[in-house]
Amino acid sequence: MPEFPYSRLRRWPDVEADNLQAYDATDLLLVERALALSTDAAITGDEIAVIGDEYGAVTLALIDAGLRGIRVHQDLATGRRALERNAEELGLTGFHAHELHAELLAGARLVLLQLPKSLAELEQIADAVARWAAPDVQFVAGGRVKHMALAQNEVLAGRFDLVQAQRAERKSRLIVAGGPLPVPDEPPFPVVVQHEGFALAAFGGAFAGARIDIGTRVLLDVLGSGALRASPGAASPTVIDLGCGTGALAVSFALAHPSARVIATDRSAAAVASARATVAANGLVDRITVTHDDAASELETAGADIVLLNPPFHLGASVHTGAATRLFEAAARLLRPGGELYTVYNSSLGYRAELSRLVGATEQLHRTPKFTVTRSIRRG
Ligand SMILES: C[S@@+](CC[C@H](N)C(=O)[O-])C[C@H]1O[C@@H](n2cnc3c(N)ncnc32)[C@H](O)[C@@H]1O
Repeated sequence: MPEFPYSRLRRWPDVEADNLQAYDATDLLLVERALALSTDAAITGDEIAVIGDEYGAVTLALIDAGLRGIRVHQDLATGRRALERNAEELGLTGFHAHELHAELLAGARLVLLQLPKSLAELEQIADAVARWAAPDVQFVAGGRVKHMALAQNEVLAGRFDLVQAQRAERKSRLIVAGGPLPVPDEPPFPVVVQHEGFALAAFGGAFAGARIDIGTRVLLDVLGSGALRASPGAASPTVIDLGCGTGALAVSFALAHPSARVIATDRSAAAVASARATVAANGLVDRITVTHDDAASELETAGADIVLLNPPFHLGASVHTGAATRLFEAAARLLRPGGELYTVYNSSLGYRAELSRLVGATEQLHRTPKFTVTRSIRRG
């Protein structure tokens, strides 16, 4: 069989650059192992679940090898679109997308995972596999050796009887787990923590867990101390929490401004599930809408009076500002002329000039050695 054309895969709509690929050596190892196991143990495509397949490399290589009915969970809206687009481009069909719920894993005998960055996310996934997959499931998790830690094996050992790290190959390593252990009655996530004034709920993969991030705290303090302009231009302003994470900014804004209509949006499914749980925990289901989307692409142009933004500054393991720029451009598109963007960022990043260029006049409202808060007024 000819080799799967990995190099034809694209990351789009995620950030693309010469040094960023749409697949890695871990994908290749996962695919090789899956093909060997599916033959040895007569595992069919509909008994395979793939989790964390960034741009679809694993899923599409398995389909290309003849396996059909594969179930897939990807956290990022961008990854989901990339998989669909790559599938279309290569003329491949035969996978079903699911959230991290029972239907993703019910009866699965082979689960493949690109190890997530956080241990909490791994804990949630390991629990889900032990809880819902078949009793004879083989759970194969892989990652780049430089990003792996023994703590990951320990998390897996909390849910599986047998956990074996394989020899590293091409700077990647697989861990194979089997023998699911009995799980507690209730899944370990979401975790809900009551803070002063509101509760935060977090699933494993959400930024900062159920804590309030320090940058978020700084922005909340600035907003709470009267930074909003006297007349935001609308009696019932439309406010967007762009890249909402667990929804701290959205919920706190909605509680402080009962007339505001708030939309919280994030490209991570874990963030969206967390924000929805946060909204419910604070009794705000009627006031806040939460959407899973890349850079709010489905929200109306020039429809917002206020955008709140604590942008990401890490992309994968390397510092890369493309992800923040994408959200500044989104804020510029979402705001009506005269609308306000409130941003908090690491002071060392000096985003002010970029915000002025992309959005409009930007002034510094607060600065600590670590964080800067700015207000940008959307130019007309
Ligand atoms: C630094 S966290 C801030 C989370 C939350 N607003 C807070 O203050 O706690 C940045 C968030 O932006 C989200 N994000 C990054 N790129 C995005 C994009 N293109 N579209 C939507 N959300 C994005 C991440 O998933 C993450 O939840």
